[in-house]
Amino acid sequence: MCGIIGYVGRRDALDVLVGGLNQLEYRGYDSAGVALANGGDEAAGRDADGAASADVDVVKRAGELSALEAALEERTPAGTTGIGHTRWSTHGPPTDANAHPHTDEDGSVAVVHNGIIENYDRLKDELIAEGHRFESDTDTEVVPHLIERELEAGSPPEAAVRRAVEQLSGSYAIAAVVADTDAVYAARNDSPLVLGIGDDGYYLGSDVPAFLEHTDRVVYLDDGEFVRLTPDGWTVTSPDGEPLDKPIETVDWDLEDTGKSGYDHYMLKEINEQPHALRQCLSGRVDELDGRVELEELDDLIEDPPEAVQFVACGTSYHAALYGARRFRDRGIPAQAFVASEYATEVPPTGDRLVIGVTQSGETADTLSALREARNRGVETLAVTNVVGSTAARECDHALYIRAGPEIGVAATKTFSSQLVALNLLVEGVANGPRSGVRPRSDGVRGRLAALRELPGQVQQVLDESNAAEVARTYLDSSGYFFIGRGYNYPVALEGALKFKEITYEHAEGFPAGELKHGTLALVTADTPVIAVVTGDDEIARKTVGNVKEVEARDAPVIAVTDGRSDVERYADEVLEIPKAHSVTMPLLANAQLQLVAYHVANELGRSIDKPRNLAKSVTVE
Ligand code: F6R
Repeated sequence: MCGIIGYVGRRDALDVLVGGLNQLEYRGYDSAGVALANGGDEAAGRDADGAASADVDVVKRAGELSALEAALEERTPAGTTGIGHTRWSTHGPPTDANAHPHTDEDGSVAVVHNGIIENYDRLKDELIAEGHRFESDTDTEVVPHLIERELEAGSPPEAAVRRAVEQLSGSYAIAAVVADTDAVYAARNDSPLVLGIGDDGYYLGSDVPAFLEHTDRVVYLDDGEFVRLTPDGWTVTSPDGEPLDKPIETVDWDLEDTGKSGYDHYMLKEINEQPHALRQCLSGRVDELDGRVELEELDDLIEDPPEAVQFVACGTSYHAALYGARRFRDRGIPAQAFVASEYATEVPPTGDRLVIGVTQSGETADTLSALREARNRGVETLAVTNVVGSTAARECDHALYIRAGPEIGVAATKTFSSQLVALNLLVEGVANGPRSGVRPRSDGVRGRLAALRELPGQVQQVLDESNAAEVARTYLDSSGYFFIGRGYNYPVALEGALKFKEITYEHAEGFPAGELKHGTLALVTADTPVIAVVTGDDEIARKTVGNVKEVEARDAPVIAVTDGRSDVERYADEVLEIPKAHSVTMPLLANAQLQLVAYHVANELGRSIDKPRNLAKSVTVE
């Protein structure tokens, strides 16, 4: 859950590193730092007499990236070879000393790291016994000391870094520079790392936006691989040191996609990008006239569909999984959703199962671990993810991409909606089984596919007409917020509450509407607004209206998210309207309203919307 950037080439490395850190800050933002090596440029790393200095030049600061940028104005290291890091703490609090890069004792080696080194305690004891002194609480600091030990034993820099890495266990993406060399060395195991191939140099990043400004040509690295970048070229080698012939891929993300495009916050931009994201997700995948979906990447799966499905996911993605499981059950395929971190404690599945990991980043440790557990049990796996080449995508038997584009705001918004749409496509593909595409499907399938087609326009309508900002202002000072819904609206109620608490820091809880009366009703007062998602006019809606009456009778303000088909408005103080739609797409429309409510309350309260406290976009530890 940290961000790494590296550069070697003909440019001023500092500009590249700081630019990259700005793009990576969403991965962690409690401290940041850079290290410039000396060897790459005649002008760099020389002391007043022109002699090469033996130190790597490190500047690092606790706090947001702005603190580092201020420090760099005071002291600006020069050079064309360097590494940078933005941190989300795992070992030790956010302090200058704990910020990366970390160095060895004489400052000739600098290292940045994302992940957790599980055997660092033992390594640190060993190094201390040999006389090494440590300055931080981090697990990372053992790495430059290990490299130093290898260098002192006479290894050349590349071999020294490789041997140091070989001693580590745990998860890591590591980049290292050694004074007086014009190279960046890197390795990965269980943490993301991508290589960028530019015209004026070579880049490393935890993800593509880190260097997208400079190049769209990338090489995805796999676990165990080792990289060396110099101004003259790049090599990737296997754990045994064998050179690998890695393909260069071109990504089609625009740089503009990673900026705020005039919005105050990435989150608001991303909420507003939903119609586009959903169109992208559907593009080329739906033949609504024929009533079939085309998911070429899943042909094998669709030809031989599983008898039952299990979902594993965390947070917002878990809410998407709850929705997806219900969709499968509705189509007659048994399905359950598990919180990923609990999956290993469950009884192993039997029979012909598919385990689906829903993870926008594709890097969430809990989800990866659950997927690995499934694979160890011999079960087929599928990743539903936003990130092409992510660990989940590469480790699973199949991958379905949600195509939402980069999401920078820590709170997941457009990726959640895109997950729901992708899961609908998956359900229709799998439920139609081997005959998919051979004969036209039923009116039911055609109706649902038509509803998906209409969805982007309807989301746009919600965004254009929403009164969420006014509603948000009315209920700013409440003591707690409850979100309720039934059926497909239940995951939306959970998601509404999660988004709300995540960015407003106010207490919020989501419930199945019928469950409120079994205890939580005791908390409901005139000071606890209840946000009720009530759509359609069926039995489910009627029962939810009954629950709304229960809270209204306890004087709770009621905010109804509704398509106007039930009579919930009679009991509501405020109404957030959504267009009438199919029962499977309505939850997405309600969700857009709830995202806006959360956003506007957080904005009124002056919260750090794009980077809520204590959170990180990509949670790569269990
Ligand atoms: C909340 C949020 C998180 C993530 C969760 C899983 O807004 O974004 O709850 O959904 O950390 O992340 P992914 O989907 O990357 O596996």
